[in-house]
Amino acid sequence: MTRKLFVTTALPYANGPFHIGHMMEYIQADVWVRFQRMLGHEVHFVCADDAHGAPIMIAAEKAGKTPQAFVAEIAAGRKKYLDGFHIGFDNWHSTDGPENHELAQDIYRALRKQGLIAQRTIEQFYDPVKGMFLPDRYIKGECPKCGTRDQYGDNCDNCGAVYAPTDLKNPYSTLTGATPVMKSSDHYFFQLSSQRCIDFLTEWTATPGRLQPEVLNKIKEWFAVDEHGHVGLNDWDISRDAPYFGIEIPDAPGKYFYVWLDAPVGYLASLKNHLAKIGVDYDAFMAEPEVEQVHFIGKDIVTFHTLFWPAMLHFSGRKVPNHIFVHGFLQLSGEKMSKSRGTGISPLTYLELGMNPEWLRYYIAAKLNGRVEDIEFNPDDFIARVNSDLVGKYINIASRAAGFIAKRFDGVLSADVGVEGRALLDGLRAQRGTVQALYEEREFAKALREVMLLADRVNEYVDQNKPWELAKRAGHEAVLHDVCSVCIEAFRVLTVYLKPVLPALAAQVEVFLRVEPLRFGDAARALGAHTIGEYKHLMQRVDAKQLDALLEPPATELPPPGGEPLAAEINVLDFAKVDLRIARIVECAPVEGSTKLLRLTLDVGEGRLRNVFSGIQSAYTPADLVGKFTVVVANLAPRKMKFGVSEGMVLAASHADETIEPGLYLLEPGPGAKPGMRVR
Ligand code: MSP
Ligand code: ZN
Repeated sequence: MTRKLFVTTALPYANGPFHIGHMMEYIQADVWVRFQRMLGHEVHFVCADDAHGAPIMIAAEKAGKTPQAFVAEIAAGRKKYLDGFHIGFDNWHSTDGPENHELAQDIYRALRKQGLIAQRTIEQFYDPVKGMFLPDRYIKGECPKCGTRDQYGDNCDNCGAVYAPTDLKNPYSTLTGATPVMKSSDHYFFQLSSQRCIDFLTEWTATPGRLQPEVLNKIKEWFAVDEHGHVGLNDWDISRDAPYFGIEIPDAPGKYFYVWLDAPVGYLASLKNHLAKIGVDYDAFMAEPEVEQVHFIGKDIVTFHTLFWPAMLHFSGRKVPNHIFVHGFLQLSGEKMSKSRGTGISPLTYLELGMNPEWLRYYIAAKLNGRVEDIEFNPDDFIARVNSDLVGKYINIASRAAGFIAKRFDGVLSADVGVEGRALLDGLRAQRGTVQALYEEREFAKALREVMLLADRVNEYVDQNKPWELAKRAGHEAVLHDVCSVCIEAFRVLTVYLKPVLPALAAQVEVFLRVEPLRFGDAARALGAHTIGEYKHLMQRVDAKQLDALLEPPATELPPPGGEPLAAEINVLDFAKVDLRIARIVECAPVEGSTKLLRLTLDVGEGRLRNVFSGIQSAYTPADLVGKFTVVVANLAPRKMKFGVSEGMVLAASHADETIEPGLYLLEPGPGAKPGMRVR
């Protein structure tokens, strides 16, 4: 039976270029999709930019662009990554497209008709300068427990306390520095806590085959009933107030859908946009019961896809997802490649260095399984897998045999390869079911391990039969012909098994072998007395130098000033938070038990003296300093040290690398500055 598959990957936020974590998700989904196509199934594989939300609106504003123009620029950069790594999406769309506006509003209206939308007034922080309600991430203040400044509204970096943004002392908006005020506003909620939703989700999540067991277990925790009999699902706040870059809520002027409401609807919008291009009716397509809806996502966005999204679809009378395939994160040397920083390996640098995209596809596939596990990018492992396995075991088979077939036998394969050869080939073909099942289950690492074991068998066969020796011995033409034909045939079968991972290479092999695009079933057939084409070198080995260049921080033309790059840009308000004052050094003394510190007694014009410890003993003696003027950070939180409390910090200059340029230079104001004057 031919399956009809509607497959998506998560829609990336349109606030930056792809990082290697995105590519991992696309490679996983693309391998699976190509595999399905090789079985003859119909697949519609789509994605889109996730365009909406406050962060993108604010980023666009900072860049001096409309959000539409900002997002369009990001979208324009997508193609070189996707084509570069052979990611075969049928369509790339945007959640700001007209289809999404229409679909999101339709879904909302249907949910409202079902009585599942509630309206409630909530109080929230509001930035009176910006005229905007503040998402939590834009509010900072002092920790209510330990008083540390500049803490986010959820927990304290210093003492670890957990609290609500409204608990912060002296809160401020990170957008303008203004003190936020509490303001009430009407919000719309999707009533996920209703019994109807709970009943549906309990059934939907538990249906076998939909979710991985570990994902289901996590969901069961969210459903857990607490001691008050309260089910652990809350109603979901789906509205945001203007200004917001998003989709307007019908009949609610000034209200927009929260970005996570319209984001998954973008899956449908992109499909609809794609089907229109190929002349298929979207509604008719979605009404076909055999259509399977499959979402590939990362482990950080499970709630949205296993609770909110299926409930939205079900209660708006639509098809619900058949499978949510969750993967872990790709990490580099144990470090999480963060969404915002996008650290680690740049996919674009990879391509620009001339590295083969299929090395990365192979390497990532060789690490992936069907579970929610993080995988690590390890440079040595990368080199080993590509050079020893992919090139050393697989590509080598063809390069060892192709020359003889061309030179000695006019490119024609032997029709009957003898008992031993046939046994080997039968063994390779017999693994088709196993390899197929592993691809289906997204157990790519296991599938590739199987294929490499088969390649080992072929290489053993070559080593035993030694075609290079047969070629020198008279009267062994027929055996040589058989052995080399077995190699070519084996290579073809292995290429079938690897094609989902190595599509461009497989296309080259198809040209070389003069065969139609390989399908999975072709592993079972034999080529017989077939004429093949000319062998051209198929794949290089990785050079360790390329990986070094890839992992190196981007080369800068000039060395950074003072041995270190400039810190991240700040605005005037950020700078104004640092209160710098002129200080007179009244007294100075060595600190007993410390080879680094000097104790300074400072007059900062406050009518009292301050005690400050400073690590400048290597450069100054107390006699050098007494009576001198300098600059002190006067509003630094007092710090308790072994030798007493330090009430500020004096400013001194040094090179980042003291072994290159030793020396420490205390800042001194020009003549005439008085203690207490502010430095601005
Ligand atoms: N915009 C949302 C998704 C909306 S879906 C309706 C989003 N975008 S994202 O750009 O932050 O992430 C897109 C996908 O990349 C997610 O599935 C996420 O889990 C995945 N990954 C982000 N970092 C990753 C790694 N380091 N490794 C693997 N996948 C990672 O979330
Ligand atoms: Zn704290």
